Amino acid sequence: MDEPIVFAGVSKSFGALTVLDDVSLTFMRGQTTAVIGPSGTGKSVLLKHIVGLLHPDSGTVTVLGVDMAHARDKDVYAVRKRLGMLFQDGALFDSLCVGENIAFPLQRHRPDMTVRQQRERVEEVLELVELPGLYDRPTSALSGGQRKRVGLARAIVNQPEIVLFDEPNSGLDPMTSDAIDQLIHDMKAKLGITFVIISHDIVGTINVADRIAMLYQGKLIANGTTAEVVRSEHPVLRRFLGRNLILPGAGDDGMARLPRI
Ligand SMILES: Nc1ncnc2c1ncn2[C@@H]1O[C@H](COP(=O)(O)OP(=O)(O)O)[C@@H](O)[C@H]1O
Ligand SMILES: [Mg+2]
Repeated sequence: MDEPIVFAGVSKSFGALTVLDDVSLTFMRGQTTAVIGPSGTGKSVLLKHIVGLLHPDSGTVTVLGVDMAHARDKDVYAVRKRLGMLFQDGALFDSLCVGENIAFPLQRHRPDMTVRQQRERVEEVLELVELPGLYDRPTSALSGGQRKRVGLARAIVNQPEIVLFDEPNSGLDPMTSDAIDQLIHDMKAKLGITFVIISHDIVGTINVADRIAMLYQGKLIANGTTAEVVRSEHPVLRRFLGRNLILPGAGDDGMARLPRI
């Protein structure tokens, strides 16, 4: 079967600014791929191509077999239904309770489910993100880490095949990010979801990503297993990673283990 997301020779400019320059990148099924790079380097632009909110000037982005720039609206919409998104701050509605926030994609995409079935599904994902029984909690009463978990619950509630995260760990303390990383790891194993994580912080992704792709000035300057990429000698990558970072457990299994700095 084809891989779930394929960028083939994608270029995108805004006026004179070339943001993506002939990017070819395949996201593999059931794997977690981190796309890293400094701020302003085009990571969010890349993500918007996956959802079909931006179209390439040249090249193609194929998601679940659909060319997102040229497909009919109906087919683009069908792909979006199979995606889950987690935005930077969880993007929760404070006027809704926790359960209503999580149920949102079901109300939109699953008219086949009764209100009761939707509530049951929400209770199920609340357990998955380790927030059992919080359905009726006001969203405004959540901590930062809990908001992130609720955002994650909403991203997976409709059993997506692909989950996209834009900067999942930003603004969280290291303990909370570790817990989120663990959660992503467990869910990948349990549900076989393809995860795409966008981050400006390589260290925050090393413990959770199977593969890392690095964008720099519009180009893909590294792309491989996490273990391969952390050993890459590319000067920009070395600078980004930090010269003094020790790699104690970087094994050949692609699961490098680094101390958080
Ligand atoms: N819709 C747009 N119109 C014009 N410029 C844009 C648009 N979206 C992004 N850009 C520019 O593209 C560059 C990359 O942005 P972005 O993908 O958001 O960076 P990041 O890697 O921090 O996520 C930035 O210089 C940004 O200003
Ligand atoms: Mg961004």
